[in-house]
Amino acid sequence: MTELSKNELEKKLVAYRHYFHQYPELADNEVQTTAKITEILKSWDIKILPTNLKTGVFAEIGIQEGPVVGLRADIDALPIQENSGVDFSSKVPGVMHACGHDTHIAALLGAAYLLKQQEARLTGKVKLIFQLSEEDKEGALQVIEDGQIADVDAILGFHNIPHHATGEFGIRAGVVNGAIDKFKVVLRGVGTHASKPEKGYDPIVALGAEINALQSIVSRNLNAFEAGVLSITHVNAGNTWNILPEEAFFEGTVRTASPALRETIKTRFFDIVNYTAKAHQVTADIDWYEGDPSVNNDADLVAIVKDETRKFASVYEQNPSLGSDDFACYQVKIPGVYVNIGNGETVDLHNPRFKADDGVVIAGSEFFEKNAIRILKELKLHPANISQ
Ligand code: NI
Repeated sequence: MTELSKNELEKKLVAYRHYFHQYPELADNEVQTTAKITEILKSWDIKILPTNLKTGVFAEIGIQEGPVVGLRADIDALPIQENSGVDFSSKVPGVMHACGHDTHIAALLGAAYLLKQQEARLTGKVKLIFQLSEEDKEGALQVIEDGQIADVDAILGFHNIPHHATGEFGIRAGVVNGAIDKFKVVLRGVGTHASKPEKGYDPIVALGAEINALQSIVSRNLNAFEAGVLSITHVNAGNTWNILPEEAFFEGTVRTASPALRETIKTRFFDIVNYTAKAHQVTADIDWYEGDPSVNNDADLVAIVKDETRKFASVYEQNPSLGSDDFACYQVKIPGVYVNIGNGETVDLHNPRFKADDGVVIAGSEFFEKNAIRILKELKLHPANISQ
């Protein structure tokens, strides 16, 4: 392939980004996106890897045996009607790249191009992971199930973030966002006439007690310096004024910043719900849904990534947030770093007026390229320095 200058490459990548923006596709349905990414990589002679997944693209660069670094970009869009006013707005009604995954795709394509130019010199292999279904349908778990990270030693990913200067990097060791769990509980008693409560077992009084008792977990079982939230968001019981119902229902969510805390809250939740139900002579059916864990950045890898990124961009200490990303699922298996790249001033992510900044694209390409090369070297020279 002919070598493009950085300017020419950026122009090409921005054009690709606008193309992906015009043709967004929802989770598990990224068929055209997959075809387009594959076509571009093939035009650069990049080796596409086999997969059993319907969407998503996996590719490899590098000829030397050695460590493997994974670079991940998410490729799906959101069920949102675009109202951003940009002249390359979505042509698909009700579907929009409303948090900039189009910039993530283009950034990883740029890194692929840059790394391909240096393929012979890479001290190992770079695996490109264009991941399906980040917003829904558990794409990262599908990728893991497909065996795509079995040979990967370390992984990098990023998300653009509004309200930070374009191209500025937020990097932080440890937990950068919350794990998500959901619960649904049905309390079962015995219905009766409202005037004769002694003839039944009232689930509504039990429900009131449950709501209050559960709030004691965060206030009484957590160290004041640990972060956790338990919210009951929906309750339902009965349908008229003179009947005590058979059942009462509540649901909600738990957000936590550490795996240990996540376990503590879950254990206390089950104990409180079951024993409070028993105290009120009703039974409790609990459904607990485990969501994504926290994005948890490997400290040793962060030190390397910070050092490398500072050479070409400004870096700040990223604040933890409650947003989630299934990148966390990879970090349960292998060390990884997930950073934020500033997207300038715009409305927040997942808004119909969200505008991603084209400048994120080349910043992301450079981030992936430079850090992949550096981590391959570090992994080869000092593998023990990067914790597994
Ligand atoms: Ni996103």
